[in-house]
Amino acid sequence: MSTNGEMNVLSRAICPSEAVIRVERYPATSRILHWIVAVLVLATWPLGFFIQFTKKEVSLDFYMVHESFGFLVLWLMLLRVGNKLMAKAPDPQGPAIERFAASAVHGLLYVFLIVMPVSGFLATNAHGFPLVWFGLVPVWSPLDKAPDIAWTLSAIHGWSAWILLLLFALHIGAVLLHHVIKRDNTLYRIL
Ligand code: HEM
Ligand code: HEM
Repeated sequence: MSTNGEMNVLSRAICPSEAVIRVERYPATSRILHWIVAVLVLATWPLGFFIQFTKKEVSLDFYMVHESFGFLVLWLMLLRVGNKLMAKAPDPQGPAIERFAASAVHGLLYVFLIVMPVSGFLATNAHGFPLVWFGLVPVWSPLDKAPDIAWTLSAIHGWSAWILLLLFALHIGAVLLHHVIKRDNTLYRIL
């Protein structure tokens, strides 16, 4: 039989599913887009990175899958920008410095999640390899073969990839800070 004291402790303990219900969350559209884009980016980034280490026979397949996932990210991000403008995000939490850091990192993630696919897409066209999406749908090429600008676009794509990785590390660092050290409800806002 529980004492009153134990009952109070139990009623105050919040299980994760209860926390998800209680916390003010991002709208469903934002949460769904966040996780679809996260999964795609977490697959696209390593696929791009490992192309250089693959054998010739398989590297074209790596390019095709990498480019096709990345191109999908572009359209989902355009949808996400529209969603951001229309759907109401939950009120920011925490001290001013944290709110500023969170909105700066989130804003830069948006920017680089658009710069990455645009620079990659333009680079492949300028190198003379127009995209055939998942090997099925030929995508209109806005650029003819142009080797001089192709390398600039590839450099932008390569540098942006490392900036994106840094932003992702900051993002995950912040998630861990909130969830493991501060033990607040931030994670549940996006679940
Ligand atoms: C979210 C989207 C994307 C991410 C995160 C991403 C990430 C990467 C990464 C990490 C690399 C290796 C860079 C290095 O080794 O320095 C790479 C290379 C490459 N990516 Fe992407 N990429 C994306 C979208 C695209 C798209 C849409 C295309 C083309 C349609 C593309 C085409 C390429 C190509 C051709 C390379 C080989 C190196 C080069 O010429 O730049 N990427 N990508
Ligand atoms: C893999 C595990 C991930 C976890 C646990 C996670 C967690 C979170 C959390 C808790 C928030 C809400 C922050 C707040 O309310 O202030 C958030 C938002 C956000 N996350 Fe992630 N995230 C992950 C992956 C990613 C990836 C891979 C990206 C992009 C490369 C990303 C981009 C964003 C952006 C842009 C927001 C702002 C929400 C918006 O305005 O759309 N996240 N994430």
